[in-house]
Amino acid sequence: MKTIHNFDEYLRQVEEAKANPTQYWGEVARDLEWFKPWDQVSSGNFSELNIKWFEGATTNMSTNCLDRHLKTRGHQTALIYVANDPKQAPLKINYLELHQKVCRMASVFTNLGIKKGDVICFYMGMVPELMIGILAATRIGAIHSVVFGGFSAQSLAGRIQDCEAKLLVTNDGGHRGDKIIPLKQVCDEALKECPSIKTVIVHRRTKNNISMTEDRDFWLHDLETTATTVLPATPMKSEDPLFILYTSGSTGRPKGLMHTTGGYMVYAYHTFRNVFQMKAEDIFWCTADIGWVTGHTYLTYGPLLNGNTTVMYEGLPVYPDAGRFWNIIDQLKVTHFYTAPTAIRALQAMDLSFVSKYKLDSLKVLGSVGEPINEEAWEWYHRNIGKGRCPIVDTWWQTETGGIMISPLAHVTECIPAHATYPLPGISPILVDSSGKEITEIEAEGNLCIKSPWPGIARTVWGDHERYRHTYFGSYPGMYFTGDGARRDSRGNYRITGRVDDVINVSGHRLGTAEIEDAINTHPDIVESAVVGYPHKIKGQGIYAFCICPHALESPEQVRQELIAAVNKVIGPIAKPDLIQFVTGLPKTRSGKIMRRILRKVGEGDVSNLGDTSTLLNPEVVDEIVKGKLR
Ligand code: PRX
Repeated sequence: MKTIHNFDEYLRQVEEAKANPTQYWGEVARDLEWFKPWDQVSSGNFSELNIKWFEGATTNMSTNCLDRHLKTRGHQTALIYVANDPKQAPLKINYLELHQKVCRMASVFTNLGIKKGDVICFYMGMVPELMIGILAATRIGAIHSVVFGGFSAQSLAGRIQDCEAKLLVTNDGGHRGDKIIPLKQVCDEALKECPSIKTVIVHRRTKNNISMTEDRDFWLHDLETTATTVLPATPMKSEDPLFILYTSGSTGRPKGLMHTTGGYMVYAYHTFRNVFQMKAEDIFWCTADIGWVTGHTYLTYGPLLNGNTTVMYEGLPVYPDAGRFWNIIDQLKVTHFYTAPTAIRALQAMDLSFVSKYKLDSLKVLGSVGEPINEEAWEWYHRNIGKGRCPIVDTWWQTETGGIMISPLAHVTECIPAHATYPLPGISPILVDSSGKEITEIEAEGNLCIKSPWPGIARTVWGDHERYRHTYFGSYPGMYFTGDGARRDSRGNYRITGRVDDVINVSGHRLGTAEIEDAINTHPDIVESAVVGYPHKIKGQGIYAFCICPHALESPEQVRQELIAAVNKVIGPIAKPDLIQFVTGLPKTRSGKIMRRILRKVGEGDVSNLGDTSTLLNPEVVDEIVKGKLR
């Protein structure tokens, strides 16, 4: 067992993982259950991109999350579900019950003809059936692809088409505060262009009126009547796909990152255990939606692989008021709380009386994920929520990495405000300069790369291995490029400074600027647009769109609303531009490329030094843009 209990042990494991990674990861993996052991712990490299972990082995994710615990902790609570409505009592599901529910859902899938290797898409609210559904998929070897319920019909359709999902699982509707999100209606719209979907399973949640298409749409509760609650798990090869999760990049459509069974499982297990340091009686609450990678690895798989208790919350942080998170913590006696800086900043902006009403004395460890946490928010979180006694693990990682890469280990390594601090054992971050040369000085700033493979790395972009190569290994051959910049202090602590590519992070949601521009450009009057991120007090980054639109001069407000509607339709409300400035031109280089550096400066509200603009094709537009700037 590779649990790290103190700093010396951390240092020892770092050395061991460096000197003999095969032995290290082999020992970690032995904690889990394998139907057949591996022939080789790892093979492949970042040059050939043929990475494999635990080759030759067979296992099953649901067996490791559930069956493995039944004898020892079958009656322990696996999941505590908190509904949107504060009057509804929390629902507790123990490991035995969760196992039965997962088997029953897996049996529903099997009865519909779903087989190993088929893709099941989930477009749901935060209901237990979503967690049960993905575990059920893994039980029968189906590949799950969860699409966040805030994405539009067009986004959902694009993802379904890309992975050719056969089955779609949804809710009639989702509760979000006092609103009902019409999930099934969005599915109906999306399915007009998704011939691969043969069946839709609808779980009843909100009881809103929906239409059901005959021979395609079925209620889950009807299908369950003929399902069994005992269903053996399908043995999966370690490198068999486990899930596909779509995420945005600098260019093109969102990419379907593919994670495999054995490596991801080992990595989720190990990182959860060591970063959070949970005891058997502790209660873990990750506030992420299962539609994002955090909801996969640290709401679902990490806690269940370790036999812990995980909390799932359906609603918003501010419903019915801004004390809801703190109320839930007191009510359930949550010990470990893991959330995003954007939520912390939003709650920090509210009256402190929303916090001071609650004791929060059950808390032992706090976590942060998804975007850089500013020092002010870190201190507020530490002082008011952690009461100065809880470490904050600022966990840096990505959809691509599968699990946490750089982070303090709670009560084991030091926490420094706004710093992800040290890499986990077996992780080899380096900083490179723009030419790709490794910066060997300890105290430095550069582009963050990872030198060698780890078990949790996504193996490919679904259906496009060349895009995987080009995106992550094209900039600096032989190493994985994260897209992030970082600073390293004299003691080797990392501080992530943010994306250095054309990806922006809005409220912890990752969006490509090109994707938003494409959505804006669907408006018939838009000649051209350019989108940049700008510093936003609550969201981390806001979206600033510069649009060439001659017609907007007559009715700018109307065009603004139309552009927001266009983005809503193509991507979803999460990509709504905060600022839209109409311009007559965009600053371009002689080769026709938009000089985004200038637009970013305008967004930052810092136009005192725009750098060299003499090489621009149209320097005159810069004055116009600066004059009309919205910040
Ligand atoms: O820029 C980094 C930021 O979020 C990006 C990854 O986004 P996504 O794949 O959606 O995964 C989010 C949840 C893991 C990274 O490239 N990021 C994530 N965690 C941190 C962070 N930036 C700073 N500090 C963090 N702790």
